[in-house]
Amino acid sequence: MSEASLLEQHGESVAMARAVRAKAWAPYSKFLVGAVLETSDGRRFSGCNVENASYPAGLCAERGALAAAVAAGARDFRRVVIVTDADVPTPPCGMCRQALVEFAPALEVISVAINDRSASWSLADLLPSPFTPASLANA
Ligand code: THU
Repeated sequence: MSEASLLEQHGESVAMARAVRAKAWAPYSKFLVGAVLETSDGRRFSGCNVENASYPAGLCAERGALAAAVAAGARDFRRVVIVTDADVPTPPCGMCRQALVEFAPALEVISVAINDRSASWSLADLLPSPFTPASLANA
C-alpha cells in the first residue's frame, strides 16, 4: 500500500497516536513516541513512552498501549500505529515485538515519521521464530 493511502486509511489511529505522543515523558532521549493499539473489533488504546531518571525503568509507547488494552479486557489485536518525529518510520524495539507477539503474532505494524513518511510491516516478519506461550509447553 502506498504511504499516502496508509495515512488515509488509518487517519483516526494516526491522529490519536500523534495526540498521545505529545504527552510522552522523554526528557533524556528527547525521542517522543505515541502508539495506538487497535483491537480486531475496532477499539483503540493509546500509550506514550515514559522515561525515568533510572534509565532502564523507562517504558516504550507500545507496551504502554498494550498494558492499557489488557487492563481494559482487550486481548485480540489487529494493528499498532506508531508515531515519532524520526526522519524515517521506525519499527518497534525488540522488547516491544516480544510483548506484542504474545497476543498478536500476525499484528500489522504501521509507523509514521515526520513529514508523514510511513511504512508497514507484519510483526511475523519483524520477529521471526518468536518465543511464544507454546514454547513454554515444550519445556
Ligand atoms: N521507544 C518507544 O517508545 N517505542 C519505540 O518504538 C522505540 C523506542 C522509546 C524508548 C525511549 O523512551 C525512547 O523511545 C528512545 O529509545
